[in-house]
Amino acid sequence: MQLIPSWAPNVHPMIVHFPIVLVILAVAADLVHLVRPRMKGLGAAATSLYLLGALSAVAAYLSGRQAAGAVFTPGMAHGLVGDHGSWAFATTVCLILVAVLRLGGRLTRLGDTRAARLLFVALGLAIAVLVQQTAERGARLVYEHGVGVIPGPLPSDLGGLDPPAADEAPR
Ligand code: HEM
Repeated sequence: MQLIPSWAPNVHPMIVHFPIVLVILAVAADLVHLVRPRMKGLGAAATSLYLLGALSAVAAYLSGRQAAGAVFTPGMAHGLVGDHGSWAFATTVCLILVAVLRLGGRLTRLGDTRAARLLFVALGLAIAVLVQQTAERGARLVYEHGVGVIPGPLPSDLGGLDPPAADEAPR
């Protein structure tokens, strides 16, 4: 059985959405916890989301390194691959640090104060910016430079041909 579908260049595009979504959910849980401190389970949920986010970021990082060595990269995109990789490294390291801090805060109960909750929201927002910067560069690799994409016809507004109508013979 094939784990990667035949149309996918590699496993990286299938993993990258996990850290993005998990970090957004973790920050959202922390924000709700800040304004509703009595709501049960939010702190624990955010800690679990950060831990899962860190694990998926490691998987995204490793699969990205593998992808960068395997896909065709046009000359103009090499710098962007390097930038994307550097942002990904910073994101992954910071996410691991925040996840460990959160776990420590829960185990020692030091994370139960309002000051700690404010700090967690600030750190979460900083991590979200890192994730956004990393993901934007990844998306530009695909949609601006076509890295990992099977070449197809240009859209008509970019000078390509319109696709044939259903009752028209292929051109
Ligand atoms: C936290 C780690 C990472 C995240 C969140 C991430 C995110 C992304 C995103 C969102 C895309 C666009 C996917 C799409 O729209 O289909 C992408 C593509 C890509 N990324 Fe990453 N990335 C990470 C790590 C890395 C690393 C370390 C490298 C190696 C330098 C890398 C190399 C690539 C390549 C070559 C692509 C083009 C598509 C492909 O062949 O898979 N990524 N990445």
